[in-house]
Amino acid sequence: MVSINPAKAQDVWKDVGEHVDFVVLSLTRADQAAAQAGIEEFADRSQAIIRSLRIRAAEDNLKVAIGFSNAAWDYLFPNAAKPKELETFTGVSGPEYSMPASAGDIFLHVRAKTEATVYEVVSQYRRFLKDFTTVVDETKGFRYFEGRAIIGFIDGTEAPEVQDAAEYAIIGHEDPEFINGSYAFAQKWLHDMSFWENQSTETQEKAVGREKFNDLELEDEEKFKNAHNVASKYEPNGEEQKIVRMNVPFSDPANDATGTYFIGYSRYWHVTKNMLINMVDQSDFLLTFSTLLSGQLYFIPSRDLLADIADGKLTN
Ligand code: HEM
Repeated sequence: MVSINPAKAQDVWKDVGEHVDFVVLSLTRADQAAAQAGIEEFADRSQAIIRSLRIRAAEDNLKVAIGFSNAAWDYLFPNAAKPKELETFTGVSGPEYSMPASAGDIFLHVRAKTEATVYEVVSQYRRFLKDFTTVVDETKGFRYFEGRAIIGFIDGTEAPEVQDAAEYAIIGHEDPEFINGSYAFAQKWLHDMSFWENQSTETQEKAVGREKFNDLELEDEEKFKNAHNVASKYEPNGEEQKIVRMNVPFSDPANDATGTYFIGYSRYWHVTKNMLINMVDQSDFLLTFSTLLSGQLYFIPSRDLLADIADGKLTN
């Protein structure tokens, strides 16, 4: 029996990187056989490209995750089994705010210490994908000072560290065919930064639920009722659930377009989904000054499963 082995997973761990590129592609759906053959080659090449860059740019700490949406899985592997929780995200709505869904088939999350390495990976990937995909979105993110989210707060403190993350981030024996895979939820937020920057530090702290400078958590009674670290919690039967989360800042400052690219990797999609539902149900403060630009769920196969895809085992 295959066992849970984080080393077999793609890079679904908390490792934000200095330079980040998120790419969402759509399959053209012009020629299914050609797309299948293209994906098989990509599954193989993508891993060789990573191995090569880890030699060529050994200091760059390259991390890559590649995923497929439910729609892509149905199109590319119609006769293969499907990860238990893989579905098309159709959005969630609360009394005041909604999180919309957006199109996407193939998802790339590439991060490294230098932009050159990120560029090299994505441009090489594009060679193997461009004949049967179009680009839906490309967002380039960066590490902000002290690992802060763009709203100025330290990001990721309560997200599990690599050594503890396996039980939260990767699929286990509950879905043996897809063991060591992961569910990635990618969501692009645009912030009204002038609104946020006009709030006092005290208001911002009550809104996030932590102190801004030193990252200490506030007492519950000091937080707003819709503080982010209250609204986003999912605690079935009083048991707090975790996912691996990263909030990557992006900005086009001259155009006043600044936001957060949220990426959450989880063993169970329903955990992330319930966090999203809780956020809209409780009108999370973050939603009050943000516009949600996109959101979709992707399955991140283990590296073993990518090798099976490369060998044509899912299309035969
Ligand atoms: C604009 C987007 C977002 C920003 C800027 C943001 C930022 C933050 C910050 C600064 C923290 C406190 C430090 C930490 O533990 O990481 C936090 C906590 C958290 N966030 Fe977010 N977040 C965003 C979106 C989301 C989304 C979409 C989810 C859920 C799918 C989420 C789930 C959580 C959870 C579960 C916590 C920890 C709560 C706790 O146990 O204290 N966040 N976030």
